[in-house]
Amino acid sequence: SQIGKDGYRHFMEKELHEHPVAIGQTLQRVTDPVTRRITLPDFPFNAAELPRATISACGSAYYAGLVGRYWLESLARLPVDIDVASEMRYRAPPQPDQGMALLISQSGETADTLGVLRFLKEAGQKIVSVLNVEHSTMGRESDLVLGMVAGPEISVASTKAFTAQLTVLAALALTFARERGTLDTAAEQELTAALLDLPSRAAEIFSHLEGIRDMARVVAQARDVLYLGRGSCMPIAQEGALKLKEISYIHAEAYAAGELKHGPISLIDQTVPVVAIAPSTILFDKMLSNLQEAKARGGRILAFTDAAGAEKLKDVAEQIVVLPDVDAFVAPILYAIPVQILAYEVALLKGTDVDQPRNLAKSVTVE
Ligand code: G6P
Repeated sequence: SQIGKDGYRHFMEKELHEHPVAIGQTLQRVTDPVTRRITLPDFPFNAAELPRATISACGSAYYAGLVGRYWLESLARLPVDIDVASEMRYRAPPQPDQGMALLISQSGETADTLGVLRFLKEAGQKIVSVLNVEHSTMGRESDLVLGMVAGPEISVASTKAFTAQLTVLAALALTFARERGTLDTAAEQELTAALLDLPSRAAEIFSHLEGIRDMARVVAQARDVLYLGRGSCMPIAQEGALKLKEISYIHAEAYAAGELKHGPISLIDQTVPVVAIAPSTILFDKMLSNLQEAKARGGRILAFTDAAGAEKLKDVAEQIVVLPDVDAFVAPILYAIPVQILAYEVALLKGTDVDQPRNLAKSVTVE
C-alpha cells in the first residue's frame, strides 16, 4: 500500500512524530501481558554463561549499539566489543567460544553489516539481530531476530527506528541482567517501569517544540557545531551531530564532554554553538563544569536537560530545552528525540531536501 505523509511536510517530520508509537509498539512486543515483565524469545545460548558480545552496525544503528554496550556492561556486566561494520569486518577481532554477535539494522540489508554477520557466524558466534525489516537478508541469516516495531521508515535519515532499536537493546540488557543475576528484583522493576513509561514521556516532547525551534535558529547560522555528551548519552551527541550533517549540511562533531579540554576547546568561540545532551545523571556535575569551561571561551551553550539540570544550567546555557524527568537508564532514548527534531528544524530553515539528502541512500547495499 502507498504510504503517505499524513499531512506532514516531510516523511521525516511524520516519522519523528511516530517516536512514541514506535517505542510503545516495540515495548508491547517485549512485555509479558500478564506479569508486565520484559520478556524476549528464547536465546540460542545460555545468557548466564555468555563470555562476551560483539556489536556491529552502521550509521545511527551503530550509535544505538554504543548505548547498548553501555547498558549490557553496566546492567548485565557483559563485556562488549563494538565497531562500525566496515571496520569490524576487516579488523576481524578474535572471537570467544560461544559468544554472541549482535547486529543492528533498520533495513536488514546494509552490505557492511551483512558482511560482519557472515564473518561472525563463520567465527562460531550465535547471531542475534535487531531489525525493523525482519523478512530481510540479515533476518534470514540470523539465529534469533529481535524485531523492533517501528513501522516503515521512508526518510533517508533514520528517526523512529533509532529509538525502537534502543528500546529493544534496553529490553535485552534487562533480560540479560536478570538471567545473569546482576540486577535485583526491585531494581529490575524500577527500570522496567521507567521503560514502560517512556511512550508517554516521549509524547510530551511534542507539546514543547518552540524551544527546539529557537535553538534551531542559532544552529542554522553556524558553520560548525559541537555536540557534547557523557556516559550513555555520548552516543546521543553522536547521533545529533550525524543527523545535523546529513540533512542540514552543517559540519558537526560530537565529543565526550570530558575530552573537550584535550582538543576541541581550542575551536570554541561565539561562532561555534555547543549543544549539550545533559540529563541529571551521576555525570551531570562533570558535564556542568565542562560546559562552564566552554562558556568561559565564549561558547554559546544550548542545553537539553531536565528541570533539575535547568536550574543548575541557568547561568551557563544561552538556551535550555527542558525535557520530562526520566530515570537515567532511559534518558538516551528520550533525548534522542529532541536532538533529531533539532536537526530537522535546522534543515527546514536551510531549505534542504530533508527526506532525500544529497549523496545519501536509505539502505546502502554496496560495501
Ligand atoms: C544509511 C542511512 C542511515 C542508517 C544507515 C544504516 O546510511 O542513511 O540512516 O542509519 O544506513 O542502515 P541500516 O538499515 O543498516 O540501519
